[in-house]
Amino acid sequence: MRAFFLSLLAVITLPVFAQQVSNIRVYPDQGKQKINKHIYGQFAEHLGTCIYGGLWVGTNSDIPNTQGYRTDVLEALKKLQIPNLRWPGGCFADEYHWMDGIGPYANRPKMVNNNWGGTIEDNSFGTHEFLNLCELLNCEPYVSANVGSGSVEEMAKWVEYVNSDGDSPMARLRRQNGRDKAWKVKFWGVGNESWGCGGSMRPEYYSDLYRRYATYCRTFDNNRLFKIASGASDYDYNWTEVLMKNIGRQMDGISLHYYTVSGWDGSKGSATDFNKEDYYWTMGKCLEIENVIKKHIEIMDKYDPKKQVALMLDEWGTWWDEEPGTTRGHLFQQNTLRDAFVAALSLNLFHKYSERLQMANIAQLANVLQSMILTKGNQMVLTPTYHIFEMFNVHQDATFLPMDLMCEKVNVRDNRQVPMLSASASRNDKGVIHITLANVDADKNNQVTIDLDNTNLKSVNGRILTASSINDHNTFENPNKVKPATFNGAKLEKGKLSVNMPAKSIVVLELK
Ligand code: AHR
Repeated sequence: MRAFFLSLLAVITLPVFAQQVSNIRVYPDQGKQKINKHIYGQFAEHLGTCIYGGLWVGTNSDIPNTQGYRTDVLEALKKLQIPNLRWPGGCFADEYHWMDGIGPYANRPKMVNNNWGGTIEDNSFGTHEFLNLCELLNCEPYVSANVGSGSVEEMAKWVEYVNSDGDSPMARLRRQNGRDKAWKVKFWGVGNESWGCGGSMRPEYYSDLYRRYATYCRTFDNNRLFKIASGASDYDYNWTEVLMKNIGRQMDGISLHYYTVSGWDGSKGSATDFNKEDYYWTMGKCLEIENVIKKHIEIMDKYDPKKQVALMLDEWGTWWDEEPGTTRGHLFQQNTLRDAFVAALSLNLFHKYSERLQMANIAQLANVLQSMILTKGNQMVLTPTYHIFEMFNVHQDATFLPMDLMCEKVNVRDNRQVPMLSASASRNDKGVIHITLANVDADKNNQVTIDLDNTNLKSVNGRILTASSINDHNTFENPNKVKPATFNGAKLEKGKLSVNMPAKSIVVLELK
Protein backbone atom coordinates (compact mmCIF):
# COMPACT_ATOMS: atom_id res chain seq x y z
CA MET A 1 0.00 0.00 0.00
CA ARG A 2 2.79 2.40 1.04
CA ALA A 3 4.77 1.57 -2.07
CA PHE A 4 1.72 2.35 -4.17
CA PHE A 5 1.22 5.77 -2.59
CA LEU A 6 4.88 6.67 -2.86
CA SER A 7 5.15 5.76 -6.50
CA LEU A 8 1.78 7.24 -7.37
CA LEU A 9 2.68 10.37 -5.45
CA ALA A 10 5.67 10.65 -7.72
CA VAL A 11 3.29 10.59 -10.66
CA ILE A 12 0.71 12.94 -9.21
CA THR A 13 2.94 15.58 -7.65
CA LEU A 14 5.16 16.22 -10.64
CA PRO A 15 4.67 19.66 -12.24
CA VAL A 16 1.67 19.90 -14.56
CA PHE A 17 3.81 19.99 -17.69
CA ALA A 18 5.48 16.70 -16.75
CA GLN A 19 4.65 13.81 -19.01
CA GLN A 20 5.46 10.18 -19.53
CA VAL A 21 8.08 9.36 -22.15
CA SER A 22 8.06 5.90 -23.76
CA ASN A 23 9.92 4.15 -26.53
CA ILE A 24 8.82 1.31 -28.75
CA ARG A 25 10.73 -0.57 -31.41
CA VAL A 26 8.63 -2.64 -33.81
CA TYR A 27 10.21 -5.41 -35.91
CA PRO A 28 8.03 -5.50 -39.04
CA ASP A 29 10.15 -8.20 -40.74
CA GLN A 30 10.04 -10.60 -37.84
CA GLY A 31 6.32 -11.36 -37.82
CA LYS A 32 5.72 -15.13 -37.83
CA GLN A 33 2.38 -15.96 -36.30
CA LYS A 34 -1.13 -14.72 -37.00
CA ILE A 35 -3.33 -13.14 -34.38
CA ASN A 36 -6.18 -15.60 -34.41
CA LYS A 37 -9.37 -13.66 -35.10
CA HIS A 38 -11.14 -15.90 -32.58
CA ILE A 39 -9.40 -13.97 -29.78
CA TYR A 40 -12.12 -11.38 -30.50
CA GLY A 41 -14.88 -13.89 -29.64
CA GLN A 42 -18.03 -13.10 -27.71
CA PHE A 43 -20.21 -14.94 -25.21
CA ALA A 44 -23.99 -14.80 -24.82
CA GLU A 45 -25.51 -16.73 -21.94
CA HIS A 46 -29.10 -17.18 -20.82
CA LEU A 47 -28.44 -14.87 -17.91
CA GLY A 48 -30.40 -11.79 -16.91
CA THR A 49 -31.32 -9.85 -20.02
CA CYS A 50 -28.44 -10.90 -22.24
CA ILE A 51 -30.61 -13.07 -24.50
CA TYR A 52 -34.19 -12.12 -23.62
CA GLY A 53 -34.50 -8.35 -23.96
CA GLY A 54 -30.89 -7.75 -25.01
CA LEU A 55 -30.75 -9.77 -28.21
CA TRP A 56 -34.10 -11.41 -28.63
CA VAL A 57 -37.50 -9.77 -28.31
CA GLY A 58 -39.53 -12.04 -30.59
CA THR A 59 -41.42 -11.09 -33.72
CA ASN A 60 -44.48 -9.75 -31.85
CA SER A 61 -42.51 -7.13 -29.92
CA ASP A 62 -43.04 -3.36 -30.27
CA ILE A 63 -39.26 -3.02 -30.25
CA PRO A 64 -38.09 -2.89 -33.88
CA ASN A 65 -36.76 -6.34 -34.74
CA THR A 66 -35.46 -8.46 -37.57
CA GLN A 67 -36.96 -11.94 -37.33
CA GLY A 68 -37.21 -11.46 -33.54
CA TYR A 69 -33.68 -10.08 -33.00
CA ARG A 70 -33.45 -6.44 -31.91
CA THR A 71 -32.54 -4.51 -35.06
CA ASP A 72 -30.51 -1.86 -33.19
CA VAL A 73 -28.40 -4.52 -31.43
CA LEU A 74 -27.98 -6.58 -34.59
CA GLU A 75 -26.71 -3.60 -36.57
CA ALA A 76 -24.30 -2.57 -33.79
CA LEU A 77 -22.94 -6.11 -33.49
CA LYS A 78 -22.30 -6.38 -37.24
CA LYS A 79 -19.76 -3.56 -36.94
CA LEU A 80 -17.70 -5.57 -34.45
CA GLN A 81 -16.97 -8.36 -36.97
CA ILE A 82 -17.55 -10.97 -34.30
CA PRO A 83 -15.57 -14.10 -35.24
CA ASN A 84 -17.38 -16.55 -32.93
CA LEU A 85 -20.20 -16.51 -30.42
CA ARG A 86 -20.35 -18.88 -27.44
CA TRP A 87 -23.80 -20.03 -26.23
CA PRO A 88 -25.94 -20.99 -24.21
CA GLY A 89 -23.67 -20.74 -21.13
CA GLY A 90 -21.79 -20.55 -18.81
CA CYS A 91 -23.39 -22.26 -15.88
CA PHE A 92 -26.70 -22.26 -17.76
CA ALA A 93 -25.28 -24.73 -20.30
CA ASP A 94 -25.15 -27.62 -17.84
CA GLU A 95 -28.86 -27.35 -17.08
CA TYR A 96 -29.99 -26.69 -20.63
CA HIS A 97 -31.86 -29.36 -22.57
CA TRP A 98 -31.74 -28.35 -26.20
CA MET A 99 -34.82 -30.33 -27.27
CA ASP A 100 -36.93 -27.95 -25.15
CA GLY A 101 -35.87 -25.13 -27.46
CA ILE A 102 -36.91 -26.46 -30.88
CA GLY A 103 -40.23 -26.74 -32.73
CA PRO A 104 -43.32 -24.51 -32.55
CA TYR A 105 -43.03 -21.88 -29.81
CA ALA A 106 -46.37 -22.84 -28.27
CA ASN A 107 -45.09 -26.38 -27.61
CA ARG A 108 -41.84 -25.35 -25.96
CA PRO A 109 -41.89 -25.95 -22.20
CA LYS A 110 -41.00 -23.19 -19.77
CA MET A 111 -37.96 -23.63 -17.52
CA VAL A 112 -36.43 -22.18 -14.37
CA ASN A 113 -33.00 -20.59 -14.78
CA ASN A 114 -31.67 -21.96 -11.48
CA ASN A 115 -28.23 -20.40 -11.81
CA TRP A 116 -29.33 -16.86 -12.44
CA GLY A 117 -32.05 -15.55 -10.20
CA GLY A 118 -34.60 -18.33 -10.76
CA THR A 119 -36.00 -16.48 -13.76
CA ILE A 120 -38.64 -18.33 -15.78
CA GLU A 121 -37.69 -18.68 -19.45
CA ASP A 122 -39.99 -19.75 -22.27
CA ASN A 123 -37.35 -21.40 -24.46
CA SER A 124 -38.32 -19.17 -27.39
CA PHE A 125 -34.61 -18.60 -28.07
CA GLY A 126 -33.24 -22.03 -28.91
CA THR A 127 -30.95 -23.79 -31.37
CA HIS A 128 -32.49 -22.35 -34.56
CA GLU A 129 -32.64 -18.83 -33.14
CA PHE A 130 -29.01 -18.99 -32.05
CA LEU A 131 -27.60 -20.49 -35.23
CA ASN A 132 -29.61 -18.18 -37.47
CA LEU A 133 -28.26 -15.24 -35.46
CA CYS A 134 -24.72 -16.46 -36.12
CA GLU A 135 -25.52 -16.52 -39.82
CA LEU A 136 -26.82 -12.95 -39.68
CA LEU A 137 -23.64 -11.87 -37.87
CA ASN A 138 -21.45 -13.97 -40.14
CA CYS A 139 -19.74 -15.53 -37.14
CA GLU A 140 -18.94 -19.09 -36.12
CA PRO A 141 -21.14 -20.62 -33.47
CA TYR A 142 -19.51 -22.15 -30.39
CA VAL A 143 -22.00 -24.41 -28.64
CA SER A 144 -21.38 -25.31 -25.02
CA ALA A 145 -23.10 -28.63 -24.33
CA ASN A 146 -24.60 -30.07 -21.16
CA VAL A 147 -22.40 -32.62 -19.40
CA GLY A 148 -23.36 -31.81 -15.80
CA SER A 149 -27.04 -32.81 -16.01
CA GLY A 150 -27.37 -34.00 -19.60
CA SER A 151 -26.77 -37.37 -21.21
CA VAL A 152 -24.26 -38.54 -23.78
CA GLU A 153 -27.19 -39.36 -26.05
CA GLU A 154 -28.56 -35.82 -25.73
CA MET A 155 -25.27 -34.26 -26.78
CA ALA A 156 -24.72 -36.75 -29.61
CA LYS A 157 -28.18 -36.00 -30.99
CA TRP A 158 -27.59 -32.24 -30.78
CA VAL A 159 -24.49 -32.61 -32.94
CA GLU A 160 -26.46 -34.73 -35.41
CA TYR A 161 -29.38 -32.24 -35.43
CA VAL A 162 -27.26 -29.26 -36.41
CA ASN A 163 -24.58 -30.98 -38.53
CA SER A 164 -26.11 -33.89 -40.45
CA ASP A 165 -27.16 -33.28 -44.03
CA GLY A 166 -28.05 -36.93 -44.59
CA ASP A 167 -31.28 -38.82 -44.09
CA SER A 168 -30.66 -39.26 -40.36
CA PRO A 169 -33.45 -39.07 -37.73
CA MET A 170 -32.19 -35.80 -36.25
CA ALA A 171 -31.68 -34.20 -39.68
CA ARG A 172 -35.26 -35.13 -40.50
CA LEU A 173 -36.48 -33.54 -37.28
CA ARG A 174 -34.56 -30.36 -38.13
CA ARG A 175 -36.17 -30.26 -41.56
CA GLN A 176 -39.61 -30.69 -39.97
CA ASN A 177 -38.73 -27.62 -37.90
CA GLY A 178 -38.10 -25.57 -41.03
CA ARG A 179 -34.35 -25.79 -41.63
CA ASP A 180 -33.18 -27.80 -44.61
CA LYS A 181 -29.38 -27.41 -44.65
CA ALA A 182 -27.21 -28.28 -41.67
CA TRP A 183 -25.46 -25.35 -40.01
CA LYS A 184 -22.10 -27.18 -39.69
CA VAL A 185 -21.12 -26.19 -36.19
CA LYS A 186 -17.42 -26.75 -35.58
CA PHE A 187 -16.76 -25.55 -32.01
CA TRP A 188 -18.22 -27.74 -29.23
CA GLY A 189 -17.63 -27.21 -25.54
CA VAL A 190 -17.91 -30.46 -23.56
CA GLY A 191 -19.35 -28.99 -20.36
CA ASN A 192 -18.57 -25.71 -18.61
CA GLU A 193 -16.81 -25.15 -15.29
CA SER A 194 -17.17 -28.86 -14.57
CA TRP A 195 -15.25 -28.27 -11.32
CA GLY A 196 -18.10 -26.01 -10.11
CA CYS A 197 -21.56 -25.17 -11.48
CA GLY A 198 -21.02 -27.76 -14.23
CA GLY A 199 -21.03 -30.75 -11.88
CA SER A 200 -18.57 -30.17 -9.00
CA MET A 201 -16.27 -32.83 -10.44
CA ARG A 202 -12.67 -33.71 -9.78
CA PRO A 203 -10.36 -33.44 -12.79
CA GLU A 204 -9.72 -37.21 -12.94
CA TYR A 205 -13.45 -37.96 -13.10
CA TYR A 206 -14.13 -35.17 -15.60
CA SER A 207 -11.32 -36.43 -17.86
CA ASP A 208 -13.04 -39.80 -18.18
CA LEU A 209 -16.39 -38.16 -18.70
CA TYR A 210 -14.94 -35.90 -21.40
CA ARG A 211 -13.52 -38.93 -23.24
CA ARG A 212 -16.91 -40.65 -23.11
CA TYR A 213 -18.99 -37.64 -24.28
CA ALA A 214 -16.49 -36.65 -26.97
CA THR A 215 -16.46 -40.18 -28.42
CA TYR A 216 -20.09 -39.88 -29.47
CA CYS A 217 -19.83 -36.42 -30.98
CA ARG A 218 -19.55 -37.62 -34.55
CA THR A 219 -18.24 -36.07 -37.71
CA PHE A 220 -21.04 -35.59 -40.23
CA ASP A 221 -20.30 -34.97 -43.91
CA ASN A 222 -16.60 -34.33 -43.29
CA ASN A 223 -17.29 -31.51 -40.87
CA ARG A 224 -14.59 -32.30 -38.33
CA LEU A 225 -15.46 -31.01 -34.90
CA PHE A 226 -13.22 -28.91 -32.69
CA LYS A 227 -13.89 -30.29 -29.21
CA ILE A 228 -13.11 -28.14 -26.20
CA ALA A 229 -12.69 -29.54 -22.70
CA SER A 230 -13.97 -27.60 -19.72
CA GLY A 231 -10.80 -26.11 -18.32
CA ALA A 232 -9.44 -24.48 -15.22
CA SER A 233 -10.41 -21.41 -13.29
CA ASP A 234 -7.59 -18.86 -12.93
CA TYR A 235 -4.83 -20.42 -10.80
CA ASP A 236 -6.00 -24.06 -10.79
CA TYR A 237 -2.93 -25.45 -12.59
CA ASN A 238 -3.64 -28.98 -11.37
CA TRP A 239 -6.86 -29.07 -13.43
CA THR A 240 -4.89 -28.36 -16.61
CA GLU A 241 -2.17 -30.86 -15.65
CA VAL A 242 -4.64 -33.73 -15.08
CA LEU A 243 -6.58 -33.02 -18.28
CA MET A 244 -3.45 -32.75 -20.39
CA LYS A 245 -2.23 -36.05 -18.95
CA ASN A 246 -5.51 -37.96 -19.19
CA ILE A 247 -7.18 -36.50 -22.27
CA GLY A 248 -4.28 -35.13 -24.28
CA ARG A 249 -4.89 -35.02 -28.01
CA GLN A 250 -8.46 -36.27 -27.65
CA MET A 251 -9.32 -32.64 -27.07
CA ASP A 252 -8.67 -29.90 -29.63
CA GLY A 253 -8.82 -27.19 -27.03
CA ILE A 254 -8.92 -26.72 -23.28
CA SER A 255 -10.63 -23.71 -21.81
CA LEU A 256 -9.58 -21.26 -19.11
CA HIS A 257 -11.65 -18.68 -17.20
CA TYR A 258 -10.15 -15.55 -15.69
CA TYR A 259 -12.11 -12.58 -14.40
CA THR A 260 -10.75 -9.21 -13.31
CA VAL A 261 -12.53 -9.30 -9.98
CA SER A 262 -11.77 -8.57 -6.36
CA GLY A 263 -13.15 -10.73 -3.55
CA TRP A 264 -15.58 -13.44 -4.64
CA ASP A 265 -17.23 -13.14 -1.21
CA GLY A 266 -18.80 -9.81 -0.39
CA SER A 267 -18.43 -6.64 -2.42
CA LYS A 268 -16.60 -6.67 -5.73
CA GLY A 269 -16.73 -2.90 -5.88
CA SER A 270 -18.87 -0.47 -7.81
CA ALA A 271 -18.56 -0.42 -11.60
CA THR A 272 -18.70 3.38 -11.66
CA ASP A 273 -17.87 4.72 -8.20
CA PHE A 274 -14.15 4.03 -7.75
CA ASN A 275 -11.00 6.04 -7.13
CA LYS A 276 -7.62 6.19 -8.82
CA GLU A 277 -6.16 3.56 -6.53
CA ASP A 278 -8.96 1.15 -7.50
CA TYR A 279 -8.35 1.98 -11.16
CA TYR A 280 -4.65 1.14 -10.99
CA TRP A 281 -5.40 -2.01 -8.97
CA THR A 282 -7.78 -3.09 -11.74
CA MET A 283 -5.06 -2.64 -14.37
CA GLY A 284 -2.71 -4.79 -12.26
CA LYS A 285 -5.27 -7.54 -11.74
CA CYS A 286 -6.14 -7.56 -15.42
CA LEU A 287 -2.47 -7.81 -16.45
CA GLU A 288 -1.88 -10.65 -13.99
CA ILE A 289 -3.58 -12.87 -16.52
CA GLU A 290 -0.28 -12.93 -18.40
CA ASN A 291 1.38 -15.05 -15.68
CA VAL A 292 -1.67 -17.26 -15.45
CA ILE A 293 -1.66 -17.86 -19.22
CA LYS A 294 2.07 -18.53 -19.19
CA LYS A 295 1.79 -21.11 -16.41
CA HIS A 296 -1.06 -22.99 -18.11
CA ILE A 297 0.90 -22.92 -21.38
CA GLU A 298 3.99 -24.27 -19.61
CA ILE A 299 1.99 -27.29 -18.45
CA MET A 300 0.49 -27.76 -21.90
CA ASP A 301 3.94 -27.56 -23.50
CA LYS A 302 5.12 -30.41 -21.29
CA TYR A 303 2.45 -32.78 -22.65
CA ASP A 304 2.00 -31.25 -26.09
CA PRO A 305 5.25 -29.70 -27.33
CA LYS A 306 3.88 -29.43 -30.89
CA LYS A 307 1.11 -27.13 -29.62
CA GLN A 308 -1.70 -29.19 -31.11
CA VAL A 309 -4.11 -28.50 -28.26
CA ALA A 310 -5.31 -24.91 -28.14
CA LEU A 311 -5.84 -22.79 -25.06
CA MET A 312 -9.29 -21.18 -25.19
CA LEU A 313 -9.90 -18.35 -22.75
CA ASP A 314 -13.62 -18.67 -23.21
CA GLU A 315 -14.59 -16.37 -20.32
CA TRP A 316 -12.79 -13.19 -19.30
CA GLY A 317 -13.52 -9.60 -18.36
CA THR A 318 -14.43 -7.41 -15.38
CA TRP A 319 -16.90 -8.44 -12.68
CA TRP A 320 -18.29 -5.63 -10.50
CA ASP A 321 -21.23 -5.31 -8.12
CA GLU A 322 -24.60 -5.44 -9.83
CA GLU A 323 -26.05 -1.99 -10.49
CA PRO A 324 -28.26 -0.82 -7.62
CA GLY A 325 -31.92 -1.29 -8.44
CA THR A 326 -31.39 -4.17 -10.89
CA THR A 327 -32.53 -7.78 -10.42
CA ARG A 328 -30.22 -9.81 -8.15
CA GLY A 329 -28.45 -12.60 -9.98
CA HIS A 330 -28.70 -10.87 -13.36
CA LEU A 331 -25.14 -9.46 -13.24
CA PHE A 332 -26.06 -6.18 -14.90
CA GLN A 333 -23.15 -3.75 -14.50
CA GLN A 334 -22.19 -0.39 -15.98
CA ASN A 335 -19.06 -0.02 -18.07
CA THR A 336 -16.64 2.91 -17.78
CA LEU A 337 -13.43 4.04 -19.39
CA ARG A 338 -11.72 1.75 -16.83
CA ASP A 339 -13.41 -1.24 -18.49
CA ALA A 340 -12.22 -0.01 -21.88
CA PHE A 341 -8.68 -0.11 -20.50
CA VAL A 342 -9.15 -3.68 -19.29
CA ALA A 343 -10.31 -4.64 -22.79
CA ALA A 344 -7.43 -2.83 -24.51
CA LEU A 345 -4.69 -4.14 -22.21
CA SER A 346 -6.06 -7.67 -22.40
CA LEU A 347 -6.36 -7.77 -26.19
CA ASN A 348 -2.87 -6.30 -26.63
CA LEU A 349 -1.56 -9.02 -24.34
CA PHE A 350 -3.53 -11.91 -25.87
CA HIS A 351 -1.98 -11.19 -29.29
CA LYS A 352 1.43 -12.23 -27.93
CA TYR A 353 0.22 -15.74 -27.08
CA SER A 354 -1.61 -16.46 -30.33
CA GLU A 355 0.46 -19.52 -31.02
CA ARG A 356 -1.27 -21.36 -28.18
CA LEU A 357 -4.12 -19.00 -27.26
CA GLN A 358 -6.51 -19.50 -30.13
CA MET A 359 -9.74 -18.17 -28.77
CA ALA A 360 -10.99 -15.75 -26.14
CA ASN A 361 -14.58 -14.83 -25.32
CA ILE A 362 -15.32 -11.73 -23.31
CA ALA A 363 -18.20 -12.10 -20.84
CA GLN A 364 -20.72 -11.05 -22.10
CA LEU A 365 -22.41 -9.64 -25.20
CA ALA A 366 -25.28 -7.60 -23.71
CA ASN A 367 -26.45 -6.51 -20.25
CA VAL A 368 -24.20 -8.94 -18.36
CA LEU A 369 -20.76 -8.26 -16.81
CA GLN A 370 -18.33 -6.44 -19.17
CA SER A 371 -20.78 -6.13 -22.00
CA MET A 372 -20.64 -4.53 -25.41
CA ILE A 373 -24.19 -3.28 -25.23
CA LEU A 374 -26.68 -2.18 -22.58
CA THR A 375 -30.42 -2.10 -23.25
CA LYS A 376 -33.47 -0.78 -21.42
CA GLY A 377 -36.81 -1.28 -23.13
CA ASN A 378 -36.34 0.02 -26.65
CA GLN A 379 -33.18 1.99 -25.77
CA MET A 380 -29.63 0.84 -26.40
CA VAL A 381 -26.19 2.19 -25.52
CA LEU A 382 -22.78 1.09 -26.74
CA THR A 383 -20.27 0.73 -23.91
CA PRO A 384 -16.64 1.93 -23.91
CA THR A 385 -15.71 -1.77 -24.18
CA TYR A 386 -17.74 -2.01 -27.41
CA HIS A 387 -15.69 0.83 -28.85
CA ILE A 388 -12.42 -0.96 -28.03
CA PHE A 389 -13.59 -4.14 -29.77
CA GLU A 390 -14.61 -2.09 -32.80
CA MET A 391 -11.31 -0.13 -32.89
CA PHE A 392 -9.06 -3.15 -32.28
CA ASN A 393 -10.70 -5.58 -34.72
CA VAL A 394 -8.16 -4.50 -37.39
CA HIS A 395 -5.79 -7.01 -35.76
CA GLN A 396 -8.01 -9.99 -36.55
CA ASP A 397 -6.03 -12.60 -38.53
CA ALA A 398 -3.21 -10.09 -39.16
CA THR A 399 0.44 -11.04 -38.61
CA PHE A 400 1.66 -10.26 -35.11
CA LEU A 401 4.71 -7.95 -35.17
CA PRO A 402 7.10 -8.32 -32.24
CA MET A 403 8.21 -5.19 -30.38
CA ASP A 404 10.35 -3.93 -27.52
CA LEU A 405 8.63 -1.45 -25.24
CA MET A 406 10.20 0.80 -22.62
CA CYS A 407 7.99 2.79 -20.27
CA GLU A 408 7.55 3.76 -16.65
CA LYS A 409 5.96 1.30 -14.21
CA VAL A 410 3.88 2.12 -11.16
CA ASN A 411 3.61 -0.05 -8.08
CA VAL A 412 -0.04 -0.58 -7.18
CA ARG A 413 -2.07 -2.18 -4.38
CA ASP A 414 -1.18 -5.88 -3.85
CA ASN A 415 2.35 -4.99 -4.93
CA ARG A 416 1.77 -5.41 -8.61
CA GLN A 417 3.82 -3.45 -11.13
CA VAL A 418 1.76 -1.74 -13.80
CA PRO A 419 3.41 -0.45 -16.97
CA MET A 420 1.99 2.93 -17.97
CA LEU A 421 1.89 1.98 -21.65
CA SER A 422 0.43 -1.03 -23.42
CA ALA A 423 0.94 -1.65 -27.14
CA SER A 424 0.54 -4.20 -29.93
CA ALA A 425 1.30 -4.14 -33.67
CA SER A 426 0.24 -6.23 -36.64
CA ARG A 427 0.39 -6.21 -40.43
CA ASN A 428 -2.65 -7.28 -42.44
CA ASP A 429 -2.71 -9.08 -45.80
CA LYS A 430 -2.78 -5.73 -47.65
CA GLY A 431 0.48 -4.70 -45.98
CA VAL A 432 -1.17 -2.13 -43.69
CA ILE A 433 0.36 -1.90 -40.20
CA HIS A 434 -1.87 -1.22 -37.20
CA ILE A 435 -0.63 -0.24 -33.78
CA THR A 436 -2.90 -0.14 -30.73
CA LEU A 437 -1.70 1.86 -27.73
CA ALA A 438 -3.07 2.54 -24.27
CA ASN A 439 -1.69 5.30 -22.05
CA VAL A 440 -2.73 3.95 -18.66
CA ASP A 441 -1.61 7.04 -16.73
CA ALA A 442 -4.71 8.78 -15.42
CA ASP A 443 -2.99 12.19 -15.21
CA LYS A 444 -0.13 12.55 -17.62
CA ASN A 445 0.37 12.62 -21.36
CA ASN A 446 2.68 10.02 -22.81
CA GLN A 447 5.13 11.07 -25.52
CA VAL A 448 5.70 7.80 -27.38
CA THR A 449 8.43 7.35 -29.99
CA ILE A 450 7.99 4.34 -32.25
CA ASP A 451 10.88 3.08 -34.36
CA LEU A 452 9.62 0.93 -37.22
CA ASP A 453 12.98 -0.41 -38.33
CA ASN A 454 13.29 1.71 -41.49
CA THR A 455 9.98 0.62 -42.93
CA ASN A 456 8.98 2.89 -45.76
CA LEU A 457 5.80 4.55 -44.52
CA LYS A 458 3.98 7.46 -46.11
CA SER A 459 0.93 8.10 -43.99
CA VAL A 460 -0.49 7.68 -40.52
CA ASN A 461 -3.97 8.22 -39.23
CA GLY A 462 -5.68 7.26 -36.06
CA ARG A 463 -8.65 7.14 -33.73
CA ILE A 464 -8.76 7.75 -30.00
CA LEU A 465 -10.99 6.76 -27.09
CA THR A 466 -10.74 8.90 -23.97
CA ALA A 467 -12.95 10.88 -21.57
CA SER A 468 -12.63 13.56 -18.93
CA SER A 469 -12.63 10.98 -16.13
CA ILE A 470 -11.78 7.29 -15.82
CA ASN A 471 -15.25 6.89 -14.28
CA ASP A 472 -17.04 8.21 -17.36
CA HIS A 473 -19.58 5.92 -18.98
CA ASN A 474 -22.48 5.96 -21.39
CA THR A 475 -26.02 6.06 -20.06
CA PHE A 476 -29.45 5.92 -21.67
CA GLU A 477 -29.70 9.67 -21.00
CA ASN A 478 -26.21 10.43 -22.31
CA PRO A 479 -25.26 7.57 -24.67
CA ASN A 480 -22.28 9.26 -26.37
CA LYS A 481 -20.20 10.49 -23.45
CA VAL A 482 -17.42 8.01 -24.26
CA LYS A 483 -16.97 7.43 -27.97
CA PRO A 484 -14.08 7.29 -30.44
CA ALA A 485 -12.84 10.42 -32.22
CA THR A 486 -10.28 11.18 -34.89
CA PHE A 487 -6.73 11.31 -33.50
CA ASN A 488 -4.27 13.82 -34.91
CA GLY A 489 -1.47 13.33 -32.37
CA ALA A 490 0.71 10.99 -34.46
CA LYS A 491 3.41 12.30 -36.82
CA LEU A 492 5.88 10.51 -39.08
CA GLU A 493 9.29 12.17 -38.74
CA LYS A 494 12.42 10.81 -40.38
CA GLY A 495 11.11 7.26 -40.48
CA LYS A 496 10.04 7.38 -36.83
CA LEU A 497 6.61 7.79 -35.45
CA SER A 498 6.01 10.26 -32.69
CA VAL A 499 2.73 9.92 -30.80
CA ASN A 500 1.51 12.38 -28.22
CA MET A 501 -1.05 10.45 -26.20
CA PRO A 502 -3.30 12.32 -23.77
CA ALA A 503 -3.68 10.93 -20.24
CA LYS A 504 -5.99 7.90 -19.97
CA SER A 505 -6.36 7.41 -23.69
CA ILE A 506 -6.46 4.48 -26.07
CA VAL A 507 -5.41 4.89 -29.68
CA VAL A 508 -5.40 2.84 -32.87
CA LEU A 509 -3.03 3.90 -35.64
CA GLU A 510 -3.10 2.88 -39.30
CA LEU A 511 0.22 3.10 -41.15
CA LYS A 512 0.64 2.82 -44.89
O1 AHR B 1 -20.18 -15.35 -17.04
C1 AHR B 1 -20.91 -15.61 -15.88
C2 AHR B 1 -20.58 -16.96 -15.25
O2 AHR B 1 -19.25 -16.98 -14.84
C3 AHR B 1 -20.68 -18.15 -16.17
O3 AHR B 1 -21.97 -18.64 -16.29
C4 AHR B 1 -19.79 -19.15 -15.51
O4 AHR B 1 -19.22 -20.06 -16.42
C5 AHR B 1 -18.77 -18.30 -14.79
O5 AHR B 1 -18.62 -18.68 -13.46
